[in-house]
Amino acid sequence: MSKYIVNGGKKLHGKVVVEKSKNAILPIMAASLLVQGKTTITNVPNFSDITAMAKIIESLGAKITFASGNLTIDATTLSDADITCEEAGKIRASVFLMGPVISRMHRCKISKPGGCAIGARPIDIHLSGFEALGVCVQETQNEVLCVLDCFSGGEITLRMASVGATENLIMCSVLGNKTTILHGVAKEPEIVDLCKFLIGAGANIVGEGTDTITIVGVSKLKPTTFTPIADRIVAGTYMLAVALCGGRVQICDINAGHNQRLIDLLARFGCKISCKSDRIYMSSSGFLQANCNIVTGPYPEFATDLQSQIMAVLAGADGVCTITENMFESRFKHVAEFNKMGANIVVHKNTATIFGNSQCYHGQNVKCHDLRGGAGLVISALAAKGTTIIDQIDYIGRGYENFEQKLDSLGADIHRIEDEEEKHNWY
Ligand code: EPU
Repeated sequence: MSKYIVNGGKKLHGKVVVEKSKNAILPIMAASLLVQGKTTITNVPNFSDITAMAKIIESLGAKITFASGNLTIDATTLSDADITCEEAGKIRASVFLMGPVISRMHRCKISKPGGCAIGARPIDIHLSGFEALGVCVQETQNEVLCVLDCFSGGEITLRMASVGATENLIMCSVLGNKTTILHGVAKEPEIVDLCKFLIGAGANIVGEGTDTITIVGVSKLKPTTFTPIADRIVAGTYMLAVALCGGRVQICDINAGHNQRLIDLLARFGCKISCKSDRIYMSSSGFLQANCNIVTGPYPEFATDLQSQIMAVLAGADGVCTITENMFESRFKHVAEFNKMGANIVVHKNTATIFGNSQCYHGQNVKCHDLRGGAGLVISALAAKGTTIIDQIDYIGRGYENFEQKLDSLGADIHRIEDEEEKHNWY
């Protein structure tokens, strides 16, 4: 796999434009299958997960074009309901296609998603929700087959606020002229964005962003063009890089409110932050004082997708902190890599205790185990004394566009060494 060579110790200065959100775009791509016509999603970044999702959608019979950031999906006719092509096994987001495919084709077959680098990630909440909506679900060891005779709608309480299950059940309920009420749903901005897209296409949805979403089914959706929200995890990653390296940076084209928890924390650590409508101005001396206990949880709690990046910062700040990871059971693989670079982090069950030291990081050979853990390693390497070689960086390309170019434009010393070999995993 490709590698980054990072010569650390440079402060970051300038302006960075944040790309649109991967985790908003993937479900919107899935939802485009509900439209018998063309959907255009604008400003789409070139993430490998998005390319893989496009290939899966093509395998179902939809036509796709992707040029100058405009992704057009024509789902006038679908020919297949089996989400079993090679790419479906590479990205976790293929599960999001179940709701729309069941709704459109009245059946759907998918290979059971296995565990992944960050945890087991079962889909029981998706499946029990489908059953409550009238879908007959048959599970074998390796596959799930869903057959829909008659969509019933209904009132469902999710056993936990799963992002993907909330999205799948919304998408399954949008067509069909029945009412569905979902309680205990997830409230992430990406779910609100999916609903905004569907409402723009003619769906009748209320309550998105709250605990209860009501969907009154309509008979069809119309072709539409949509620009998704900015990626709050990418924005947060740049904020954390500036916090640890020091410098003064404008983070542009974002919704600052989506990162409020992070902004409050960084201000407590000593960063200066001011927010305008679509941008954050932030500066940091690079010498942070941090004493806090962070617990990851569903939005608006602290995002699990920023857990490794903030851990990188806490290890390089002065003070003792804990992070409790409540979302994914294996999401601490980056800890051993941070410790190789000089950090002092001890993990007990799902809590990491970080004994921070502003001088701790030194260059090392380390490797990415997953997308966000990889981004965390880049932050440590940017702040470290000496040269760090980060292996397996293809993971980072799943969710960051032109990462090294954007960091380079801020003054970082980071270079990529290409390797043609490809690696697959679940997200
Ligand atoms: N869960 C179940 N049963 C289910 C569904 C979920 O037990 O049927 C559990 C999961 O195992 C996990 C927790 O519920 O412990 C939360 O999972 P959720 O379903 O909310 O996550 P997801 O939809 O699979 C999305 C993002 C993840 C992000 C999580 C949490 C996408 C494509 N993925 O995953 O993003 O971490 O929500 O916010 O939207 C990433 O971008 O790096 C990434 C992993």
